[in-house]
Amino acid sequence: MSITFMMDALHAQTGGTNCALPAVMVMNNGTAVTSVAQWRERRQELLHLLRLQMYGQSPGRPENMAFKVFDEDKHALNGKATRKQITVFFNGQADGPQMDLLIYIPNNIKRPPVILGLNFYGNHAVCTDKAVKITTSWMDNNDAGVVNNRATDAGRGTDTSRWPLDMILGHGYALVTAYRGDIDPDYDDGFKNGVHALYPELQNRGDNFATIAAWAWGLSRAMDYIETDKDLDAKHVVAFGWSRLGKAALWAGANDERLGIVISNESGAGGAKLFHHINGENIRRLCTVFPHWFNTNFRKYMDKDSCLPFDQHMVISLIAPRPVYIASAADDNNADPPGEFLTAKAADPVYRFLGTKGLPAEIMPPIGHPVYAQIGYHIRTGKHDVTRYDWQQYLTFIDSHFK
Ligand code: GCU
Repeated sequence: MSITFMMDALHAQTGGTNCALPAVMVMNNGTAVTSVAQWRERRQELLHLLRLQMYGQSPGRPENMAFKVFDEDKHALNGKATRKQITVFFNGQADGPQMDLLIYIPNNIKRPPVILGLNFYGNHAVCTDKAVKITTSWMDNNDAGVVNNRATDAGRGTDTSRWPLDMILGHGYALVTAYRGDIDPDYDDGFKNGVHALYPELQNRGDNFATIAAWAWGLSRAMDYIETDKDLDAKHVVAFGWSRLGKAALWAGANDERLGIVISNESGAGGAKLFHHINGENIRRLCTVFPHWFNTNFRKYMDKDSCLPFDQHMVISLIAPRPVYIASAADDNNADPPGEFLTAKAADPVYRFLGTKGLPAEIMPPIGHPVYAQIGYHIRTGKHDVTRYDWQQYLTFIDSHFK
């Protein structure tokens, strides 16, 4: 079944309008991409387009960035793992913007592959380990254990269900995580705080460095650290993210080819959902409720979702041929599950062109029936969340590529 046909069928169901999806495999000058060398050029055109119109420009690796390992315990989690905590000083200054990495490495595996992901509520929320440092960065007062926009001890372990360390370590993977707010606090302040403060030249322009791009950039800086750590296999790193952090994981994977696999758990609009499929969150909502997430040029596309000159299948195509997994939840209409499936489907030709098996599904699979080859997809029952069911599928997918 063709993607156009599926779009028509789904649009009929949701009452959306339809415009052709912009082509991925055609160069700006109209030439079809027929060689890998041309694809590499097309890749640059797509990166340019998406940076300009949506995500903004990101700086590279800061020249003076420094790492400080401030904690190491080889007997963490009842002896199962080694815990490390590292501060990344983005501009090398102790009083400058900084993020703390929390790392658990299974003790029974030498140099394991790594699952790298930003967390919503602080490193201390990911597990109950009392030795985990509590961030001093800004946090939302609605989040567990937060007082006056700062985390407290009461937040410890409040996010463990989304980070099943037993499963991750049990499959032989290390976990590297950091709090999103260490990189950029998640509120609209005109792009002043977090790492934005270091890059005034990337502000006050239509393609400004915005928050999703900053979080993605933070994942690349974590990757810089991973490359220096002899206890981690930097050649096998998975970028994982849920929801807004899934949007960031996808953009990180699109930009940074060191990230070997990307997993998007319900990333929705601005993540894995196709804007052309009018359902769930749209550009107007993204740009008004979360005006700091994307660049200011993106605002001119409000109400033009179904006729955008770019779309998220381009982001997934930029990850090709590296494995990517896109997951949805049945009750998560805001993230538009069919729109997430359609994005995977629309990137499939690029994956096949690059010699992989792409996404082995003609139509959207039913709930609870994961499909995967180089692209994976599932929709599970339930609400917007990260569950053990989700992790089971991701770990099986990662095993199939890394083992
Ligand atoms: C909101 C937002 C989504 C986002 C989600 C999240 O629901 O509309 O775009 O993905 O928050 O990050 O949890």
